[in-house]
Amino acid sequence: MVWKQIAKLRDFGIEIESVKGKGYRLIQPLELFDRTSIFKAVANPAKGLISDLKIYDQIDSTNTYLLNRLAAGLSSGQVCIAESQTKGRGRLGRDWVSPFGCNLYLSLLWRFQNGAGASSGLSLAAGVAVVRALENLGISQLGLKWPNDILWQQRKLGGLLIEISGDSLGPCAVIVGLGINLYMPLQHGKEITQDWVDLAEIAGAGSAKIGRNCLAGAILNKLLPIIASYESTGLTPYLQDWRKHDCIDGQTVSLCHGNRDIEGIMRGITDDGLLLIDDKQGQRLRFASGEVSFHQ
Ligand code: BTN
Repeated sequence: MVWKQIAKLRDFGIEIESVKGKGYRLIQPLELFDRTSIFKAVANPAKGLISDLKIYDQIDSTNTYLLNRLAAGLSSGQVCIAESQTKGRGRLGRDWVSPFGCNLYLSLLWRFQNGAGASSGLSLAAGVAVVRALENLGISQLGLKWPNDILWQQRKLGGLLIEISGDSLGPCAVIVGLGINLYMPLQHGKEITQDWVDLAEIAGAGSAKIGRNCLAGAILNKLLPIIASYESTGLTPYLQDWRKHDCIDGQTVSLCHGNRDIEGIMRGITDDGLLLIDDKQGQRLRFASGEVSFHQ
């Protein structure tokens, strides 16, 4: 029975409306991920850095997928993309809302000789890669919120979850996980606890509409070369771009650090990617981790 199939698709998160006397219609055109189309959108040097690209309809989490297969010896340049995630993970134990066929959920594995080379600055460099990819696609007014939120007009468009496995001073593997909202159906958007935006709304505000395969290719184009060379370059070549997009510099914020809340004024980042805050006593503090929220 058709209505049963339709109900299944709706359970998957695909928005379908019934049209009187005609049948059913997709509310948004569906562009599924496809290897050939993604590879068409990736050029060298990035293309040569991909060792394998896996695409799944449904997976628990693209990061977890790669983490669980590290022991099997997956090599650098392994990319995993999913249409949907049942246990998409965000920073600080949050869920990442991951409905089917409408956003980008992508993870990339890279192995480093020396864990110190994969320091906290790597996540800032990855943020710069994402912003550069989106800007190349014609999107402006992007911002970065330390450590690695991608914002548009101060609303969350995407985020990075970087996970490191192995020796902090020796060989280690880094999983760079990226989620970008392309078109977030409202029913799922309601589950997001932060102020969010998607590329569909940004396109409505004047940017060109971007295809999902084209976006995945554009991200890999920028992300892969930056991650692959990070052990030798470090953060230095990306500092200027990161600071240009820093959208919380000079703002009054709270930083949740462990079980402490520190109020103060943001003062940018150090050259090695640590966050700087002037606290209420005017003392300059630096942090390697924590969650920044805007002060009301
Ligand atoms: C954040 O801003 O909290 C980070 C979000 C990271 C989400 C992506 S989606 C692809 C990859 N797989 C996951 O489970 N998480 C990351």
